[in-house]
Amino acid sequence: MFRLRHCLWIVPVALGLVSCQTTPPPAPEDPLVLKGEEIFFNETFSGNGRTCGTCHRAEDNFGLTPAFIATLPDDDALFVAETNRDLANNFENPTLMRKLALIVENQDGFDDLGNNFNMRGIPHTLALNNSIDSRDGPRTGWSGDGAPGDGSLRSFAVGAVVQHFPKSLNRVDGVDFRLPTDEELDALEAFQRSLGRREDLSLPIGLSDETVARGQEIFLDNTMGKCNACHFNAGANADPNLLGPNAGNLNFNTGVEALPDQPADLTGEKNPPDDGFGNPGNGEFNTPTLVEAADTGPFFHNNSVETLEAAVAFYNGDAFNDSPAGRLIIGATGSGINLDATQVVAVAAFLRVINALENLRAGRELLMTAVAYEPSNPRQAVLIRRASFELEDASQVLRGGGLHPGAAAEVESAMSALADALGSADPESDVRLALRRITSARSAMET
Ligand code: HEC
Ligand code: HEC
Repeated sequence: MFRLRHCLWIVPVALGLVSCQTTPPPAPEDPLVLKGEEIFFNETFSGNGRTCGTCHRAEDNFGLTPAFIATLPDDDALFVAETNRDLANNFENPTLMRKLALIVENQDGFDDLGNNFNMRGIPHTLALNNSIDSRDGPRTGWSGDGAPGDGSLRSFAVGAVVQHFPKSLNRVDGVDFRLPTDEELDALEAFQRSLGRREDLSLPIGLSDETVARGQEIFLDNTMGKCNACHFNAGANADPNLLGPNAGNLNFNTGVEALPDQPADLTGEKNPPDDGFGNPGNGEFNTPTLVEAADTGPFFHNNSVETLEAAVAFYNGDAFNDSPAGRLIIGATGSGINLDATQVVAVAAFLRVINALENLRAGRELLMTAVAYEPSNPRQAVLIRRASFELEDASQVLRGGGLHPGAAAEVESAMSALADALGSADPESDVRLALRRITSARSAMET
């Protein structure tokens, strides 16, 4: 799944075969990762006051939702377009930002700002290590265009500063912002690659609830859900058996732009059609991971669908089945996607449970790292807090689908143990209690 020029080393193995690996994911508390974290959350690059963390919030899965935006004070740097006169026009659309968490992106360049823009949701930056490489190079951003440059994570950070950090729309380096140095780019990349999962699942996995297990079958079945074709193992890469062994993270035109009655259009705000990858665009968008989906709605590049169940149901509609990707699926498998309501809910239940399991995995990892620090080290509380965000998501994702109430209760009692840990001089016993609750929650969901 990786291109040869990404190989760091070549490992000769028996029978004269060779295989290669990409940069190994950095260890969680590696000094370069910690430096990158500091830059990500605090560095304004002499710009308008925003940081990467203004939009990619640790509390909100390294993305940003309308619900979270509603909790922010008016002087938050997210809202610079409302307070800085030089950014009042054509920098952001405050209505669409506050209502739908949509951000102005000029991915086809900064000419004619009043017409040449798209409104896009803020994606999480989790599991990047296994979701952006394709046979055609790295695919970053909703359309895989990068921001812009070669599409790599390093170039993305440069593009993000020019797009989101300027003091004025002249966007002059050294006046409106400063560009990141090579050292800063290395650190930012290491931090982002350290976030979330470092490897894909290997489906199927043993799931105890019958509906959830059925959802997994439908997801994997190429005569039913057909989801695995593009979201292999519920990740962002294409099924190597169907679409080529090195396909990796592909782009498709799945017809999201053709959806009628999109919330952003209903507001009456100016919202030009998004032409996707390339300039002029070919209508394609990049396949996102699904393990991370359930707690990072609204869904799709334009935040057009609020609930996970509706995002699954999207694939039954004309917008998908008449799209180039829909026709590709019909050609490859003999039919379109046509799930009934019970099956839509089963697939969504499966996506909810794998998301909750990932939240618990991540929460556990953060807590194990936290207890390795002395309580006097402020890093311990940072990690415990971040683990609490994961647990809160697990509980909401399960409760939101009416799934595994026993496991959700275990998760909630782990959350209160962590609240106690944060107020205690000796947090370790509370953290250990939370870890035991996490283990019971997991074992209630898995077989
Ligand atoms: C004002 C909000 C905002 C700020 C600030 C911001 N981003 Fe983003 N970020 C976005 C949006 C919107 C997208 C989707 C862009 C697209 O599809 O073209 C995105 C996409 C990304 C992606 C692509 C993720 C993927 O799965 O392909 C990465 C990586 C990223 N941002 C990193 C950064 C870094 C690093 C910084 C700081 C230098 C930063 N962002 C600052 C809003 C923001
Ligand atoms: C032909 C490839 C393809 C198939 C088949 C496919 N997807 Fe997708 N999926 C995509 C692409 C591409 C996107 C991004 C679309 C966009 O934002 O415009 C996406 C986005 C999503 C999202 C939104 C994720 C987010 O973070 O916003 C969900 C949920 C989803 N797909 C679930 C499914 C399910 C469930 C199935 C099976 C019923 C499925 N997909 C089948 C390619 C595919």
